[in-house]
Amino acid sequence: MKPIKKVVFPVAGMGTRFLPATKAMPKEMLPIVDKPLIQYAVEEAIEAGCTEIIFITGRSKRSIEDHFDKAYELESELAFKNKNQLLESIQDILPSNVSCLYIRQAEALGLGHAVLKSLPAVGNEAFAVILADDLIDAQPGTLTQMIEVYNRLGNTVLGVEEVDPNETGFYGIVEVSEEKDYLKVDSIVEKPHPDVAPSNLAVVGRYVLTPKIYEFLATIPRGAGGEIQLTDAIARLLQYETVVAYPFSGKRYDCGSKIGYLEANLAFGIKHPQTADNFKKIVLETANNLQD
Ligand code: G1P
Repeated sequence: MKPIKKVVFPVAGMGTRFLPATKAMPKEMLPIVDKPLIQYAVEEAIEAGCTEIIFITGRSKRSIEDHFDKAYELESELAFKNKNQLLESIQDILPSNVSCLYIRQAEALGLGHAVLKSLPAVGNEAFAVILADDLIDAQPGTLTQMIEVYNRLGNTVLGVEEVDPNETGFYGIVEVSEEKDYLKVDSIVEKPHPDVAPSNLAVVGRYVLTPKIYEFLATIPRGAGGEIQLTDAIARLLQYETVVAYPFSGKRYDCGSKIGYLEANLAFGIKHPQTADNFKKIVLETANNLQD
């Protein structure tokens, strides 16, 4: 079995939930303290051993390319001023063995369509998909945990967690049965209404997929929301191959929503070495003021 080296980041979405902030800026560039969401996601993939990063991008996403590129002027300015720590923070974003590829998704036809666009870069091998707006604080990283499961079983692995039963309409929801040492996905459905959801076990933005998924992505009709859904392709895949649900350990922040994004900034700000002490004080004072 070939090790997982390729990871796909679908980043062509419009980010309408954060307008006007995302009018001219990709939502993946929204910072959590001092790093954009996409950098956390890329770091997670690199920690998991990925060396080929494939961005499925669209219009107004240039800043993502720039972020992972060399910034000559900024670097010489920081070097000139002896700001070495800052210099390192922008030079060390990508290790030298990691390469980036950008593929444009001209039409926003859904997550499944975005993943299908990666076929020429991925080819006939298993690969990972990360949705950067699901930020997961985990040790080891969630993708590392999932690739460990893939290496053991050789099957597609979906990162899952239990969500509020009223919120099934925001997620791909799986029905599972317990095998000896893993959870087998029996069915999966995109954004079911709570009344008809098969469970409250939701797929969050982490996938390790076998290349057979492309066969189905290429042929499935449009699904929920009129979009080509990755979930629908997985529903077909599990008729041919075992698909595993993996309840990762870690804390997920739904940074696609304002509340989740604010919570992530709060949690990461309280832990960040440069802000921890002062920020904790400010948070407590603010909370006390709210009670008065
Ligand atoms: C996408 C997927 C959905 C998954 C979710 C996780 O939905 O289609 O199956 O549960 O990501 O964040 P989106 O949030 O892009 O609407």
